[in-house]
Amino acid sequence: MVFTHNLLRCWLCGSKQEFSPNNYFCPRCRQPMLFETGIQKEISGTARATASIEEFIEFLPLKNYQSWLSLGEGRTPLLPLKLSDSRVSLLAKLETNNPTLSFKDRGSAVVMQKITELGWRKVGTVSTGNMASSTAAYAARAGLKAVLLVKKGTSPAALLSSAVFRPLIIEVDGDYGQLFWKSLEVGKKLEIYFANSVDPLRIEGYKLTAFEICQELRRAPDFVFVPVSSGGHFVGLFKGFYEMKQAGFTDRLPVMVGVQAEGCSPLAKAFEAGEKSFSRIKEARTIAHSIANPDPPAGNLVLHLTGEYKGWLTSVSDEEMIEAQQELAEAEGLFVQPESASTLAAFHKLRSRLSGTVVLIMTGQGLKAAHQPSPTGLNYFRSNLEEMDKVLKSIIGK
Ligand SMILES: Cc1ncc(COP(=O)(O)O)c(C=O)c1O
Ligand SMILES: [Zn+2]
Repeated sequence: MVFTHNLLRCWLCGSKQEFSPNNYFCPRCRQPMLFETGIQKEISGTARATASIEEFIEFLPLKNYQSWLSLGEGRTPLLPLKLSDSRVSLLAKLETNNPTLSFKDRGSAVVMQKITELGWRKVGTVSTGNMASSTAAYAARAGLKAVLLVKKGTSPAALLSSAVFRPLIIEVDGDYGQLFWKSLEVGKKLEIYFANSVDPLRIEGYKLTAFEICQELRRAPDFVFVPVSSGGHFVGLFKGFYEMKQAGFTDRLPVMVGVQAEGCSPLAKAFEAGEKSFSRIKEARTIAHSIANPDPPAGNLVLHLTGEYKGWLTSVSDEEMIEAQQELAEAEGLFVQPESASTLAAFHKLRSRLSGTVVLIMTGQGLKAAHQPSPTGLNYFRSNLEEMDKVLKSIIGK
């Protein structure tokens, strides 16, 4: 198979079209199309010190690698967890260790490589969270103008990690789902590359996580748990494992387990009902804002992949996520967003059906989440300097 740098294919109906910025939805299926990739090179079984993009450039729609655009993304740790037992070897892929503390950096990095190659000067995104700060940081590095379109009422605190990079921020009053589509239209007119959640270049970045996992384990794991909102990350990881199998590097695909929040689980609901397409949710009710898309733009593609390749979709409650977040902190020393901890909550729920190697993708660092448990009410006390020793003694004794 030959890799063509600019061909997109719909994985639902097989339609193909040339890649052009802001124009990647299949006109028939309304799902994002993905870059066609062929395998030109064997990958080695040992992780190298180079950036993932550079090492895997022949699997990516890029002509060459421009190292100055990188912020050091990728090559994240695959950490064995103590929660493993004789049946399950449990590992966490720490995407929290990326430059702006989430997996989004892998996508932003590929976006910047490609759009600077194409000569674009402006990049945008529709997000208030991890994708916004990641896009703004990489734009600053590349010297591009960043445009963030955010929901009316977004708190300054939520924007803090983006605003520091001085992007242009526009707060938009109106339906947030429609803003996604409108951004692509306006991007075409004003020559702004809108690197939204399911952009095919972002998806190419996410697939490198799967490459790294296969490289480290020397095969695909048995199960991979990942939180799902728009579906972009799930699709990217799946594509990565699929290409590793095509390359003959692994003889099987993992069971991909997509995890949603109970208060916003259009895909898990459709999956449980055996449907091929989902119905949008009226209103998301969850503290897990990063996985609260009521109308996921890659939703039907995720359902197609889980149906065709025997994946699973499930949901967990806010309480279960928070409990799992705390468990990861106390038992493993990891501080992740509740959204990321949803994977551990789902792991507990499905544990009796699991065996072999299980990887949980830790998508975002805990400090990035809007709703943190207050330190007061945990093991938290106050004291003045003079009495500190007495206070400590009264708490821990002698
Ligand atoms: C921490 C975190 N986890 C998971 C997701 C969901 O990813 P996707 O929208 O690609 O499904 C997001 C998206 O913003 C996120 O920020
Ligand atoms: Zn199609």
